[in-house]
Amino acid sequence: MGNLKGKDILHGNQFSKKDIDAIIKIASNFEKELKKKDSLTLLRGKILATLFYEPSTRTRLSFETAMQRLGGGVISMGSVESSSVAKGETLTDTVRTVSQYADVIVIRHPRTGSAREAADAVPIPVINAGDGTGQHPTQALLDIYTIHKELGSLKNLVVSMVGDLKNGRTVHALVELLSLFQARLYFVSPGSLRMPEEIASNLKQRGIEIEETEDFRKAASESRLIYMTRIQKERFENLSEYERVKGYYIIDEKFLKGLKNKVTILHPLPRVDEISPGVDTYHGAAYFRQVRNGVFVRMALLAMVLGRIP
Ligand code: NCD
Repeated sequence: MGNLKGKDILHGNQFSKKDIDAIIKIASNFEKELKKKDSLTLLRGKILATLFYEPSTRTRLSFETAMQRLGGGVISMGSVESSSVAKGETLTDTVRTVSQYADVIVIRHPRTGSAREAADAVPIPVINAGDGTGQHPTQALLDIYTIHKELGSLKNLVVSMVGDLKNGRTVHALVELLSLFQARLYFVSPGSLRMPEEIASNLKQRGIEIEETEDFRKAASESRLIYMTRIQKERFENLSEYERVKGYYIIDEKFLKGLKNKVTILHPLPRVDEISPGVDTYHGAAYFRQVRNGVFVRMALLAMVLGRIP
């Protein structure tokens, strides 16, 4: 099922609809299995290495949880300051070294294209957990899994993607997957944080209906799904520009009350101020369920790339 055995996971555009169907099916089987048992043995003896050159809470812990729930082991480089990266080791030397220990590598790095560079240097599967402002394909897959679970289908989606569409790698990956299902997309951002032109024009060329707007309320009132994102402060060269756009779009109880339509709200997290905590109890607020889904999807991906799917 699925043909990810031995493959790297680097970009949202590498998946077919068939791959996504397989991933959803396998993840949902693991989700069911974990209702019966705490952990499985499918990846016993296998080792995952996590190399995180940028901060992470969910992605790293979620991969580590996924591997351990499948009976595998985890090794971690730890922080950049505590590893030989601090001595000036190159990325390729580091991954070549780690590939002597592990069966699969998960990497997050501030440079766009770094995950592919790592993948080209080693024979084992490399999974991109975020390369600068580039891609974050496993987040996109868990987003799709969540949408499928929350809405029951991936058909006829109307989605508002909101916030820092310029620097947000999660949206860059997610649009690739949504485009396979012909979703209708609103890109809601301040003018300075619009979706990169090459991504938007590529989607349009493939017949995807896109509307770019600054009017969040209007877009939200026509959407079934709202995908909020954080303004990516660390990517700004000029902090006064960040101060200008921070807090530009916020969902709070008042905003929700003003909407007549039912919406499901997703967010890759961490949030800063774009969703107020009062919204968390709204039935469509799915972002913590989304976090949990990440474990099942990453279990599926690890089992698939390691060729251990029953
Ligand atoms: C995202 C990331 O690192 O790109 N976080 C995540 O992996 N869930 C989103 C963000 O940092 O805003």
